[in-house]
Amino acid sequence: MPRLARFAAMTRVEFGQIEADAVALPVAHPFENLDARLAPLAESGELRGKRGETILLHEPRLVAAGVGKRDEVDADALRTAGGTAAQALSRVGGTLAWGLDPSLPVPLPEQAAALVEGTILGAYSPGRWKSKDESRRLERIVIAAEETPELRAATERAALVADRANRARDLSNTPPNELTPAGVAEAANELAAEHEHLTAESLGPKEMAELGMGSLLAVGQGSRNEPRLVVLRYEPPAAKQDLLLGLVGKTITFDTGGISIKPAGGMQDMKGDMGGGAGTLHGIGALAALGTPVRAIAVLAAAENMPGGGAFRPGDILRAANGKTIEVINTDAEGRLVLADALWYARREGATHVLDLATLTGAMELALGDLYAGAFANDEEWMAKIVAAAGTSGDHVWPFPLHARYRRYIDSTYADMKNGSTLRQGSPVLAAEFLKEFAGDGPWAHIDMAGPGFLERSRGDYLQVPGGTGYGVRLIAELGRILS
Ligand code: BES
Ligand code: MN
Ligand code: ZN
Repeated sequence: MPRLARFAAMTRVEFGQIEADAVALPVAHPFENLDARLAPLAESGELRGKRGETILLHEPRLVAAGVGKRDEVDADALRTAGGTAAQALSRVGGTLAWGLDPSLPVPLPEQAAALVEGTILGAYSPGRWKSKDESRRLERIVIAAEETPELRAATERAALVADRANRARDLSNTPPNELTPAGVAEAANELAAEHEHLTAESLGPKEMAELGMGSLLAVGQGSRNEPRLVVLRYEPPAAKQDLLLGLVGKTITFDTGGISIKPAGGMQDMKGDMGGGAGTLHGIGALAALGTPVRAIAVLAAAENMPGGGAFRPGDILRAANGKTIEVINTDAEGRLVLADALWYARREGATHVLDLATLTGAMELALGDLYAGAFANDEEWMAKIVAAAGTSGDHVWPFPLHARYRRYIDSTYADMKNGSTLRQGSPVLAAEFLKEFAGDGPWAHIDMAGPGFLERSRGDYLQVPGGTGYGVRLIAELGRILS
């Protein structure tokens, strides 16, 4: 299992006029100061500068990466240009030099950062298990501009965060026979060993039983791969002591649905049901790597939801660590069950502001597709911070409601609540209402990332390939910046 370390490879960023395997330029329309080699293509109508469109010239290689209408160019357009350029050069690899365009409405440091971020995310290859992967690794990005402190800071940060997102993608893409809950604990240990102020520990079934975590344990009991509660603590020296960011991740290494088993079609993608955990793991790792002065704890509720002989069943009544009882209606609503105990644990460890990330409901994906996640919060100010962080980071969220009147749909005849409803309507909201019962006091937000967490197909922007997206890493890095 310690094999995971082989994935970690950083992309270098340099400045100036360095020889490269390819040069790329962002191209907006209407054209302005167009590179001489592109002028004839613009003339003929071949080059239009549309968002996401690339043209590749050879000898030497030059990529024209469209960023759309000049006055509408934003970070997302530049990330997409980075991603499409990287994809066009996926069999080239090596060194890519980006030209910047001072006439665009985005300041140069942000421009370079967005291009670098998109390039690194776009260059990601999920084919690591192929005997022969035909893609070549992008090793270095050169910004063809004079280095300034602002330019260096912005691009280094972008490269670091994008590399971390790619590491989270590696975790999501790792097949469930290779990544078990114990493997997640191993990945946390490896990560902690990289950073001075980051530590990791994990609780096994015995320790969890001692804490009364009957809800998480129930989900894990149908699998031979035991559950783990994986805990990372980031304690930077110069941080405010009155704030502890609690990051909680749904980390189901495979979700068969359990006894309430899922249909076979598409079930293989349920290896991505640990995407929330991957995002929180590499999110806290990004905070540590950036040296963000914010204390944080990440709690990953790791289990495999299998229908083995010891599996929990519909009808079972569980007692969670906070003492509340839960009637199981559907073993496929396992995410909220593992999160219940992890949320409680984060609060017990003193988290003042809690954010959970979870691939929680299929209906959230139906509602928002592969771009936005849904966000729920018990506190307006906290929601505003999450929305702000999401917007600039590119890990988008859209607010959804919590309301006391939804609570009756999870009332149980026998227990304090049930884990599902016979009602097919509003399932993301009912799941959030359920989590609220375990979120304790103080600001809490829940992000249902079922859509953007794991792609069935290319998104066509800077996420050029199916599979894990690293959702949450960029959001957490940005949230850290806002809180510090
Ligand atoms: N992991 C799934 C949700 C999911 C589905 C994520 C598709 C990504 C893509 C979750 O555990 C689940 O099965 N949810 C059920 C809940 C229901 C039984 C109340 C769902 O949404 O159908
Ligand atoms: Mn499920
Ligand atoms: Zn699930």
